[in-house]
Amino acid sequence: MKKLEGKVAIITGAAAGIGQGIAQVYANYGANLVLWDINPQVEETAQKLRQETGAQIISSVVDVANKQEVLAACQNAVDHFGRLDIICANAGVCRLAPFEEFPDEIRDFHIDVNIKGVWNTCQAAIPHLLAAGKGAIVIASSVTGDLVADAGEAAYAMTKAALVGLTKCLAIEYADRNIRVNCTQLGYARTPMVEKMAQESNPSNPEEVIQGIAAGVPMKRLAKPTDVGELFAFLGSDEASYLTGSQIVIDGGATLPETMTMGTH
Ligand SMILES: NC(=O)c1ccc[n+]([C@@H]2O[C@H](COP(=O)([O-])OP(=O)(O)OC[C@H]3O[C@@H](n4cnc5c(N)ncnc54)[C@H](O)[C@@H]3O)[C@@H](O)[C@H]2O)c1
Repeated sequence: MKKLEGKVAIITGAAAGIGQGIAQVYANYGANLVLWDINPQVEETAQKLRQETGAQIISSVVDVANKQEVLAACQNAVDHFGRLDIICANAGVCRLAPFEEFPDEIRDFHIDVNIKGVWNTCQAAIPHLLAAGKGAIVIASSVTGDLVADAGEAAYAMTKAALVGLTKCLAIEYADRNIRVNCTQLGYARTPMVEKMAQESNPSNPEEVIQGIAAGVPMKRLAKPTDVGELFAFLGSDEASYLTGSQIVIDGGATLPETMTMGTH
């Protein structure tokens, strides 16, 4: 039996990037999928995965920052599949700006999508997980904010660190009701988000930024979205049955080096 056979999983931000990678891995492991994205391209992702894997998949255009849309899409998923088992709260945004010029509306955009979006998703889904008697939530935090940061990421870092706090509280609040809540702390993966950040960092040579990230990672590469999807699959599966409130770094060793010069090689 496959790792996620028959489980019903919501994946937010599934049209592209990490969310698409999570959806691919979940489909390979036999899950039934509910894919949400603000971008209508989410249906193309769903169609491609249906053809490649035969998975049962519904998709919806949902802005996770809009609570009513999230509640309606959650109910629609339960009406379709009969229950929910796993929630992958992945949708997020990142815009760079120097702190002293950071526009309030861009700060609030991060709060709306990255914090309230995850809040809305969890709040809409948890009653259905309670009804099922068990469930797993996996939240996409980041190494950024809680552990490290690059200049210009003030809003992003603040909101991603907040998700560690949300993970801890939901984990303790629902531990004795069989809902596990964990978060992932990814370094850099090559996705549309990171390609856009590279463009903003060095408009004349964004590829140099990507190569520079890879050079600084001990494993000498960025993550693939499916690398991250595998972690989401583990945390969503029964294999992770005693894990809750955990924050798991997945960064190819990027946050490991203590110095750039000391050591035997
Ligand atoms: N790529 C990285 O290196 C990296 C590192 C650490 C954490 N993360 C986190 O992983 C998650 C996915 O990142 P990514 O790199 O795939 O980003 P991405 O921008 O490449 O893809 C994000 C997807 O989310 C969707 N989305 C954005 N706002 C939305 C909203 N309001 N409602 C619904 N969908 C929305 C987008 O349309 C897009 O399809 C984010 O939470 C991000 O913070 C990414």
